[in-house]
Amino acid sequence: MDETGKLFIGGSRNPDDSLNKAEYLDLKFGNRHGLITGATGTGKTVTLQILAEGFSRAGVPVFAADIKGDLSGVAAKGEPKDFLAKRAEQIGFADYDFEQFPVIFWDLFGEKGHRVRTTIAEMGPLLLSRLMDASEPQEGVINIAFKIADKAGLPLLDLKDFASLLNYMAENSGELSSQFGLISKTSVASIQRGLLVLEQQGAEHFFGEPALKISDIMRTANNGYGQISVLAADKLMMNPRLYATFLLWLLSELFEELPEVGDPDKPKLVFFFDEAHLLFNDAPKVLTERVEQVVRLIRSKGVGVYFVTQNPLDVPETVLAQLGNRVQHALRAYTPREQKAVRTAADTFRPNPAFDCAEAITNLGTGEALVSTLEGKGAPSMVERTLVRPPSGRIGALTDQERQAVIDKSPVLGLYDEDVDRESAFEILAARAKQAADAAAAKKAQDELQTAPSAGSGETGGWTLPGFGTGGDDGGSDRGRAQPRRTGYQRETVVEAAMKSVARTVATQVGRALVRGILGSLKR
Ligand SMILES: Nc1ncnc2c1ncn2[C@@H]1O[C@H](COP(=O)(O)OP(=O)(O)OP(=O)(O)O)[C@@H](O)[C@H]1O
Ligand SMILES: [Mg+2]
Repeated sequence: MDETGKLFIGGSRNPDDSLNKAEYLDLKFGNRHGLITGATGTGKTVTLQILAEGFSRAGVPVFAADIKGDLSGVAAKGEPKDFLAKRAEQIGFADYDFEQFPVIFWDLFGEKGHRVRTTIAEMGPLLLSRLMDASEPQEGVINIAFKIADKAGLPLLDLKDFASLLNYMAENSGELSSQFGLISKTSVASIQRGLLVLEQQGAEHFFGEPALKISDIMRTANNGYGQISVLAADKLMMNPRLYATFLLWLLSELFEELPEVGDPDKPKLVFFFDEAHLLFNDAPKVLTERVEQVVRLIRSKGVGVYFVTQNPLDVPETVLAQLGNRVQHALRAYTPREQKAVRTAADTFRPNPAFDCAEAITNLGTGEALVSTLEGKGAPSMVERTLVRPPSGRIGALTDQERQAVIDKSPVLGLYDEDVDRESAFEILAARAKQAADAAAAKKAQDELQTAPSAGSGETGGWTLPGFGTGGDDGGSDRGRAQPRRTGYQRETVVEAAMKSVARTVATQVGRALVRGILGSLKR
């Protein structure tokens, strides 16, 4: 049923229950994002699966979090079942067949897939603060920590790097505060406690090297199918903040790394954000705004983002407005909040005179949904009551053995499975501390020999950090060696840049006034 350039979603029905027409997602609008919503057990995961399968078949790589493990079945050929055959028949799906899809399993904890890591530096201060649920003063200290690391050439790769930097900051807070702004010892201490909590939650697995390369989630298989990256998220979900921060980081990485492509024939990657409410739950306003911005801008990089959640009210309106392709499964409408959700969901569709949208939403069966996709020049199609097609891969989880077999044949096998512990802040600071202690001892010995005090001997007037000696000493060479492959904190991620832009507003306004003045004078 897949037509060229189109992904088959299912068959819509007339009010008398007869088949109306096939419903498609136009691949050229695949980067215009989407939304899958519905109460529990209504068919969201299966819908996610048939969309992932359709994109893969069209050669589009997919990234999706697997909250309950049931999406893993997409790696296995589906098995004939009566209810699947019946559904296929209801929607006139004559060439329905089973097949397996190329899957790469990922897991932050390395248990159910290849390890996914990033470095502290690449995550950046904003997301790290969010991960630690930092208060404003703590966030200030985290920002200072990144500045110090940047200035002193200290690679922040893993949690112990960050912990040793914090120790160093606490020990030298007086001197550092005068250069970087107030470093309160109380805030440092609470961040240190926060790091311990993160470690206990298993986040230490996530920070380190080798860091995930975006190109590895954008692979296609030998048969031309897009690889479906399935992130094991069952354990990850126990720490919702880590889950949300990780996916946000990935999204901002994609945004940073991918070139502009305008509006391609089909997406370069499709990203499914399951349990999307976790992204927005008690997120600070500035973060929500940035997510909105990333979602808006990432489209021109050819990335489609599909939010999956129970309730459309989970997604802020500004983000909701950008989601062009929509599949709305059944919602309950008992409580006032539920009724509001139904109305909101109904109001976002282009109405169909054949039925009442709000009423339909509460009456939809399992695997049935209101569907509207972008068509023509990018306008939403009239909403249709649609029976979603049955998947070609298996519905339900792989066994452990099946999963292991997929992992053993994976195209990224061996690339991420071992930790690499490069020299970084932790080692450098330990070495520096020793060096500083040795130097202090030597200087003391020298001072005792000399009668006249040497005024500022060795001071070049250059910038120094406590314990780091003056610039241009022998530290220079190993600093160079220790530079990270990519210094993520120098290269601003969108989220960071956005954060800074808030602080920068005042300066920019002055700048603009200047420019305007210059133009004005030219005109005259
Ligand atoms: N398109 C479909 N074709 C055939 N069967 C379907 C379809 N969609 C859903 N089903 C049936 O409904 C069951 C539940 O669907 P699914 O797991 O997708 O619900 P869900 O909304 O993801 O639930 P939860 O919120 O609990 O994760 C499936 O296991 C399957 O048996
Ligand atoms: Mg589900």
